Amino acid sequence: MLTDKENHEKNIDSLSENEIRSFLNSSLKDIKIEIFDSVDSTNNICQQIAGDVVNESEYVVISSHQTKGKGRHGRNFFSPSDTGLYMSFLLKNLPYSAEEAAKLTTMAAVSVCEAIEEVSDKEAFVKWVNDIYVSNRKVCGILTEATPSLKENKLEYAIVGIGINVYMPETGFPQEILNKAGAVFDNKVMNVRNRLAAYVINHFMNYYKAETIDYLEEYRRRCFILGQEITVVSGNEQRKATAIDIDDSCRLIVRYDNGNIKTLYSGEILLPSLS
Ligand code: BTN
Repeated sequence: MLTDKENHEKNIDSLSENEIRSFLNSSLKDIKIEIFDSVDSTNNICQQIAGDVVNESEYVVISSHQTKGKGRHGRNFFSPSDTGLYMSFLLKNLPYSAEEAAKLTTMAAVSVCEAIEEVSDKEAFVKWVNDIYVSNRKVCGILTEATPSLKENKLEYAIVGIGINVYMPETGFPQEILNKAGAVFDNKVMNVRNRLAAYVINHFMNYYKAETIDYLEEYRRRCFILGQEITVVSGNEQRKATAIDIDDSCRLIVRYDNGNIKTLYSGEILLPSLS
């Protein structure tokens, strides 16, 4: 049973489709949105409906809680109730090839940064490839899962999953992410999760529909690892390098300590300053 204070706090920021729709751009009035209190994973829900949905090319699934939130590299994504925003875009009839799936993660990252800045007074930055940082803490992770078409060099469908720690979890973060995870806000803010969801949808759909790479300059500007000494993790191997640039296909260009230049498609990088 919730206390009066807990009930009040839950109500000032509960997810509502009508509220989200009221902040959407008018061009998106027909977009299909489904809201859940709790699911195993919003990416999994999209996966289940990917074969069923015939009319919609874009579909957004949003939940207040995930019991089996998925992160990259087979990790869990901690998704406690009521303090986060977990959302996935199911995209069909895409103009992208499998090699271009990284672009979806990149446009999602920029969209999340822009949405966070619209609802808060915080600045948001990107850690290549899929992490969003506010005040030196990871507040959002993005997991893109793409299914290539068997017939042509295009994607059959793609799922872009976004998990944002809007508030600090009531029980705190688990030990394994304690040193790096953070939240956008310290205290509950009226209706902020609905606005955040709508602004992410607005920005993401804008970039996605435009079919340009306009978001890339913004991604580079926000990517705080460029010019930094980093460690590139590949399986059990770790190598020191300098992050030089992001190319137009969203790949990271690094210079290893022996002078060799390498272009990374995906992967994990570490920064000494972020533990
Ligand atoms: C990461 O940080 O490794 C990526 C985390 C992605 C989490 C989001 S939450 C919404 C969507 N559903 C999932 O199960 N995962 C993504």
